[in-house]
Amino acid sequence: MRKPIVAGNWKMHKTAEEAVDLAQAIAPLVAPSLTSCDVVLCPTYTSLGAVHGVIGGSGIGLGAQNMHWEGEGAYTGDISPAMILTSGCAYVILGHSERRQYALESDEMINRKTLAALAAGLTPIVCIGEQLEQREAGRVEEIVIGQVRAALEDVEVDRAPSIVLAYEPVWAIGTGKTATAGQAEEVHALIRSFLTERFGREAADAMRIQYGGSVKAENAEELFSQENIDGGLIGGAALQADSFAAIVKAAK
Ligand code: PGA
Repeated sequence: MRKPIVAGNWKMHKTAEEAVDLAQAIAPLVAPSLTSCDVVLCPTYTSLGAVHGVIGGSGIGLGAQNMHWEGEGAYTGDISPAMILTSGCAYVILGHSERRQYALESDEMINRKTLAALAAGLTPIVCIGEQLEQREAGRVEEIVIGQVRAALEDVEVDRAPSIVLAYEPVWAIGTGKTATAGQAEEVHALIRSFLTERFGREAADAMRIQYGGSVKAENAEELFSQENIDGGLIGGAALQADSFAAIVKAAK
């Protein structure tokens, strides 16, 4: 019922020229999957325009990796929702664990960004996930649901279905350690039940929850076949056209 969504988070990789090459290599490989899966490429800000030139009109979506919540102002080094939108983006990744860790983004900032993205007409991909110590201390539900609750504060029910969540256990990001399909599904089901409480069944059932953290062609199919896993947010394996395309193919 939910259309899966696979997004490539290119992080701080690829110059504009390299990003164009990668997008050109990916586009024909994922084209046959676009009827059954939404595909999104998220290069750095400086490559957005160039990648839009490659994929604009192809059905592949473009996303930014972050943005500010204000419309404009004295925020040196930052970028606004309208700037992203007019660069061709329909999506924006918010609250990635690397932003929480290195840029000290708080739940409150992520909530402001989520509301600003919705107001601008962008689809936010809101990242949540626990650290290893938190998992070991039995705090997964408290941390993850706490992050979801905070990020979605003041979101109206009718806007909820256009939000994508990405559950990314921090210990699985870039480490080669994937959560097992069972571990991931357990958390996704908890998130879905919180969303049902918060927005009602219809909206919660429409919301897509991606899994992220060392997703590869080899483990994608098992992860994506879980009831509450609706595609993935892909880092390392999104930097090569064939591995990304194989992951997209696994999402049906
Ligand atoms: P990874 O990154 O696939 O390299 O683990 C995922 C992410 O951080 O979005």
